Amino acid sequence: MGMLNSRHGYGAVTKFLHWAIVVLFAFQYVGATIMLRTDDGTTTLGLSQATYFNWHKSLGLTVLVLAVIRIINRGAGELPPWAATLSPFEQKLIHRVEPLLYGAMFVMPASGYLYTMAGGYGVMLFGIIELPNPIRTSPLLALAARFIHIATAFALLLPLGAHFGIVIGHQFLEKDGLIRRMLSGS
Ligand code: HEM
Ligand code: HEM
Repeated sequence: MGMLNSRHGYGAVTKFLHWAIVVLFAFQYVGATIMLRTDDGTTTLGLSQATYFNWHKSLGLTVLVLAVIRIINRGAGELPPWAATLSPFEQKLIHRVEPLLYGAMFVMPASGYLYTMAGGYGVMLFGIIELPNPIRTSPLLALAARFIHIATAFALLLPLGAHFGIVIGHQFLEKDGLIRRMLSGS
């Protein structure tokens, strides 16, 4: 397996970034659910509301950095051919779903960042560095960005479900091991 994608399969960089972003998205959904149910001055699993917000913002911005690398990496090398076991319908579905997943990797962090900055809340990156706020406080922009953030988070569950469903279907019904295309050593 080379570093970049080739006609023989996905490269190491694609595989690493894919699974890193899967883990980060899972943290973001679970973390946001806890964060919005932890009242100010209380803790959940020993962590305060402020800590959850801090980590949500910091990990979300990490996704943005990885997404930029991922899109550059996608343009390098050669995309592997379709898996032989994907039906024409599944190929069409994947063709529609993949741009949505890539879009989400940018829209989610960007809208969260805009909401936080336009709302004047700021970002303390990993609890260490206070990021400068280049955006003037704007309640309207904050409201719009918050709406986009929350609406996209819910709307995204559909393409994510389709993506996951295809992989799981191939794993357990067709048993063709489609997931191995995204695992190391294959
Ligand atoms: C991949 C990146 C991200 C994902 C998947 C994500 C996901 C989510 C989800 C699922 C919610 C809860 C929505 C709800 O149930 O109402 C949420 C809320 C929130 N997110 Fe993110 N987020 C991401 C990045 C960010 C970033 C980078 C920031 C800020 C710098 C941010 C700030 C917030 C804030 C402040 C809320 C609370 C919104 C409210 O007031 O209800 N998020 N996010
Ligand atoms: C547990 C959840 C997930 C599983 C099991 C999974 C599995 C896979 C597999 C097996 C492939 C290769 C398909 C092929 O071409 O044969 C793939 C590709 C892909 N997945 Fe996932 N995935 C998951 C979650 C996600 C998430 C959360 C995202 C993004 C938000 C994502 C984005 C992509 C993209 C964009 C591709 C196309 C290859 C690329 O350009 O990186 N996946 N996934």
